[in-house]
Amino acid sequence: QTRIDQDRAERTEKLQGMGCKRKRVEDIRFTQGKGSYVDDLKLPGMLFGDFVRSPHAHARIKSIDTSRAKALPGVIAVLTAADLKPLGLHYMPTLAGDVQAVLAEEKVLFQNQEVAFVIAVDRYIASDATELVDVEYEALPCIVDPFKSMLPDAPILREDIQDKMTGAHGPRKHPNHIFEWMIGDKEATDAVFANADVTIKEMLVDHRTHPSPLETCQSVASFDKVKGELTLWGTFQAPHVIRTVVSLISGLPEHKIHVIAPDIGGGFGNKVGAYAGYVCSVVGSIVLGVPVKWVEDRMENLSTTSFARDYHMTTELAATKEGKILAMRVHVLADHGAFDACADPSKWPAGFMNICTGSYDIPVAHLAVDGVYTNKASGGVAYRCSFRVTEAVFAIERAVELLAHKLGMDAAELRIKNFIKAEQFPYQSALGWEYDSGDYHTAMKKAMDTIGYKELREEQARKREAFTRGETRELMGIGISFFTEIVGAGPAKNCDILGIAMFDSAEIRIHPTGSVIARMGTKSQGQGHETTYAQIIATEIGIPADDIMIEEGNTDTAPYGLGTYGSRSTPVAGAATAVAARKIKAKAQMIAAHMLEVHEGDLEWDVDRFRVKGLPEKFKTMKEIAWAAYNSPPPNMEPGLEAVNYYEPPNMTYPFGAYFCVMDIDVDTGVAKTRRFYALDDCGTRINPMIIEGQVHGGLTEAFACAMGQEIRYDEQGNVMGASFMDFFLPTAVETPHWETDHTVTPSPHHPIGAKGVGESPHVGGVPCFSNAVNDAYAFLGAGHIQMPHDAWRLWKVGEKLNLHQ
Ligand code: CDP
Repeated sequence: QTRIDQDRAERTEKLQGMGCKRKRVEDIRFTQGKGSYVDDLKLPGMLFGDFVRSPHAHARIKSIDTSRAKALPGVIAVLTAADLKPLGLHYMPTLAGDVQAVLAEEKVLFQNQEVAFVIAVDRYIASDATELVDVEYEALPCIVDPFKSMLPDAPILREDIQDKMTGAHGPRKHPNHIFEWMIGDKEATDAVFANADVTIKEMLVDHRTHPSPLETCQSVASFDKVKGELTLWGTFQAPHVIRTVVSLISGLPEHKIHVIAPDIGGGFGNKVGAYAGYVCSVVGSIVLGVPVKWVEDRMENLSTTSFARDYHMTTELAATKEGKILAMRVHVLADHGAFDACADPSKWPAGFMNICTGSYDIPVAHLAVDGVYTNKASGGVAYRCSFRVTEAVFAIERAVELLAHKLGMDAAELRIKNFIKAEQFPYQSALGWEYDSGDYHTAMKKAMDTIGYKELREEQARKREAFTRGETRELMGIGISFFTEIVGAGPAKNCDILGIAMFDSAEIRIHPTGSVIARMGTKSQGQGHETTYAQIIATEIGIPADDIMIEEGNTDTAPYGLGTYGSRSTPVAGAATAVAARKIKAKAQMIAAHMLEVHEGDLEWDVDRFRVKGLPEKFKTMKEIAWAAYNSPPPNMEPGLEAVNYYEPPNMTYPFGAYFCVMDIDVDTGVAKTRRFYALDDCGTRINPMIIEGQVHGGLTEAFACAMGQEIRYDEQGNVMGASFMDFFLPTAVETPHWETDHTVTPSPHHPIGAKGVGESPHVGGVPCFSNAVNDAYAFLGAGHIQMPHDAWRLWKVGEKLNLHQ
């Protein structure tokens, strides 16, 4: 028996399947500089485009004169809205049901908006020529503060739709209003608030920031006039969707469009939408008949492509004196900038903001969201989170802390008291979601024990006394966040993009020699898909992961998929992969039965082979079966061994986690030091623990950035501040704290392998954890809610406001 067990263990190890810390196969090329990115592409005769951008946040365009630019040697063409208009391409549709200017026609609506596109023989000539395009502007008053958008005398921003009083999501209350979205039981919620023992109400601002991937957005378009075919390489998180959009807006048949997303240097939501640069490179190539490349610089990326957040959330909780939460009420004012280019599933104008009841059993709730236009860049993407989930979790996790403070209760104890219990799953939330699985109490206990919560609170009490006595100038904050994510969009009944249901796909082919190629509809941007999908297949069909090649990103070869964002790859395409593999295994079983001359039912699966029940020495390995599939399949069976699956998930998955942060803040400088950060994540079945840890490290680092300094700010005139890495906080190894990671495993009951997503959880849970640590540090001094970002300057100002400075 021991020998058999040992043999099985050795064979299992050889597969490098699920649960193993397989090294990332893609890193071989990435660490040797052999990755292939869009900007690496060099095609014969290729031209380069660059944008003329508006210096104004809001202005009328009186005239555009391109003659000086066109006269510069090396300039081939200059496109303006006048050139695109006859083609119907001066506006493009957004994912949110709005339209967005490709090149500004009569007005500019945000600083750095695209006004003209210069195409030249090299990037530098194109850049020089942008300065030779003469644009005459008449400056107009601008709106920076979203609370002023709907004032009666506010300047009308979108004159192109000012008479359209119904938008994509219903009636508009004002020409600068985009939508109102409401969910929950208002009457019941209001009634609970009217009679509650204790209530809290706070304006919680999740400020505007930007996903800032290291590689900016870029594209190369190459139109073959003879074949009438367009090839478009680009930094696309969802290549198939881009192909469909290009077909719809260009009129080119979809089969004549080849979209290729090569290696991508980070996305974080920034590379989901469609940008003016993509359209202009395509138009340039179609008009000129040669390839046209567009590569954004850093300032263009930060100031014009999709921003994130900018949610102003009036958040209320009602509770009993004993701390049982009875109701939640939230109003969000959402600043969408100049165009509604939010990347959400079509029916969700505020994404999954209605996950804002969090990890708590709150009987009734009501959420209302108003979206408004301002003179800022458009977007509203899910920056390393599922749609608006970081905002939702920030709202509930800050609100719970404020309630604990008001009740004089410990913040961890209040959470535990209100957690959804393990036996309540599947749990129906007051705002409409069915949470698949969870064990919050176990996770919280493990986290509190590991961090030594009780001792930390005792230490904090001593420090507070010492501070009050004037013996120290340091404040100690303990941040807690217990989050529930909602990932894996999603079921067709509630999720589509431009009418296409949000399924995903996998196609697996076993070659005669037993090696494998598999293609998915998703697209890795650093998450390690080439490594982890192979692990799923390895475990399912018993072929070593090293013999399995994973390919994504080419719409000609990959099955149609909705792409990678919102941690949907594992919940959706990962499920498709397992199901496709199981189809192959079922066929393999029939072949093995034929080979072994037994009935299929007499076979059992054993790691990498089918063996005859009770006769372990009689077996056929998957490799042998693969050969037989091409050589001698059973009579009446078609040869070959391959399968495809388009997986439509029955539900989202709901990963969760318990995070703790210990922070020390010097009140005189405002400098905050993260002493400890502990992150316990539960993403169900874990495919690759090493990759999960890497995902958690990355997500926490971006959470640290957002909470502690990262911001896209505008001055009164709509000038964008923070549009370069001089001003925009991007933490390096120097600032980044040390991360302690941990986990529990609560599988998803509806996912074929029980896995939930994880890529974004640490960001979602991390932001409120940092903010809670800062707020907790100052809470005993009566600071009230302190808005993010918590950079040293702002914390110094808190000290000043509280008269703490000596
Ligand atoms: O959609 P995206 O790839 O960003 O997110 P994800 O599905 O959360 O996966 C991120 C990475 O973590 C992938 O390489 C997954 O295979 C891996 N992962 C894992 O090993 N186990 C899980 N339960 C979830 C994700």
